[in-house]
Amino acid sequence: MANNTFYITTPIFYPNGKPHMGHAYVVTLADTLARYHRLIGDETYFLVGTDENTEKVVQAAKKADIQPETFTKEIVQSFKEFFSALYISYNQFIRTSDTERHWPGAIAVWERLVKAGDIYKGTYEGLYCVGCEAFKTEKDLDEKGNCPEHGEPPQKLKEENYFFKLSKYTKDIRKLVEEGAFQVFPETRRNELLALLDEGLQDISFSRPKKTIPWGIPVPGDPEQVIYVWCDALTNYISALGFGREDDHNFKHFWPANYHLIGKDILRFHAAIWPAMLLSAKLPLPTAVFVHGLILSGGKKMSKTLGNVLDPQKFIDEYGADALRYYLIREVSPLEDGDMTEEKFKEVYNANLANGLGNLVSRILTMVEQYGVDITDVMLDGDDETLGGEEVADYHKAFECLEVNKAADSVWSLIAFMDSYIQEEEPFKTIEEDEDKAHQDIRFLVERLWEVAVLLEPLMPETSEIIKSAIKRGEKPETLFPRKQ
Ligand code: MSP
Repeated sequence: MANNTFYITTPIFYPNGKPHMGHAYVVTLADTLARYHRLIGDETYFLVGTDENTEKVVQAAKKADIQPETFTKEIVQSFKEFFSALYISYNQFIRTSDTERHWPGAIAVWERLVKAGDIYKGTYEGLYCVGCEAFKTEKDLDEKGNCPEHGEPPQKLKEENYFFKLSKYTKDIRKLVEEGAFQVFPETRRNELLALLDEGLQDISFSRPKKTIPWGIPVPGDPEQVIYVWCDALTNYISALGFGREDDHNFKHFWPANYHLIGKDILRFHAAIWPAMLLSAKLPLPTAVFVHGLILSGGKKMSKTLGNVLDPQKFIDEYGADALRYYLIREVSPLEDGDMTEEKFKEVYNANLANGLGNLVSRILTMVEQYGVDITDVMLDGDDETLGGEEVADYHKAFECLEVNKAADSVWSLIAFMDSYIQEEEPFKTIEEDEDKAHQDIRFLVERLWEVAVLLEPLMPETSEIIKSAIKRGEKPETLFPRKQ
């Protein structure tokens, strides 16, 4: 029987600075889901990338006094190194500056919009926030007339642009959302989208003058204009799969996406503009958009001024990538905003990793070593009939609802069960008077431990490997938490 396909994407990141905790969060979340789907046998494709043809990037390069090409190349390299340090198992890293892989798809979509009669020329007179890379209206601003997100006044623009007839698709999108053919999770975000659709969508500017974004994708037939950042960026989800290119096998195979993971700040782009573009281009819509919360620090948005910015690389260097992954997955609910401080991190690191899982692994495998327990015939496939059955079922249920924090909870329930099993059965004592029973208990614990390692693979891939190989050797790992001594 053919496996299911599973296609998941993250937003493509602006390469105008080094990766921050928000980036670490969304790629870890997506990676955990991708690894889970591989674990259950789905043919999985996981896409990440960078959003490069933007004024923001041009400005950052100018400030650093480097050509945008060199500037982005260096940042992209640092993103790739960061993803690799965090065990992000992406299948492709798409760059929107890639003229061979991305541009043909973006151009093909533009041509389809033109063919549908949905692109027209007009004059845009209004506001633009470079921080958001988005057009703004007065009501989007705070009382001082600043963008609330970036604290700066938007630029005043008057320019000739091509417009997209977004308004035409309001009703169709509403119907698809109501029927469930296009899903938006969680419910609060779905309601937010419905409210937006109630107001009615306005046509939007879909190109910018070439003089503003000198290295964007030229509008077919009008080299003075470049395709507007979002029209260009959103198409990455299909250009990366080969849409618009001769080799479009992956597009045919994996599209539509199962999930686009996004932050709430880019809901309108993904849940209104993108589906409208796909409807206009006569292409299938993604099955779902999943909107996660923000990572805050001490209840506040991370900012240099507040001095509460947490550098993800520092956590990887000090505690290991799996510890950071653990925090982001278990201590933050993907459905709401989450909080992270170094203090809280250390607390859960000590309680649940060093003294929790780490201690348990060490206790069980020390007994195996000390008492010469034969674990070679222990069933090690992780899905045998077990007392952990309930936890395993909860784990799968949680993943189906994308509640990765709850999936992690069920692994830790299994860990708690094992701790109490040792406490109640006391194999370290019974070894004196009933060696057989002690050996049986320890073998049972090793089976459960293997199960824990299997379930941990999507969440903490390195830890999972360390535990499995320690069981295979029948020896406790040199050190689990901390990784280095
Ligand atoms: N380039 C656009 C996305 C285009 S997708 C076709 C963009 N890039 S971004 O680099 O600014 O942000 C990428 C994602 O990171 C967004 O989904 C944003 O919500 C998310 N995060 C940024 N800061 C965050 C936190 N502090 N916490 C969680 N995610 C946050 O937007």
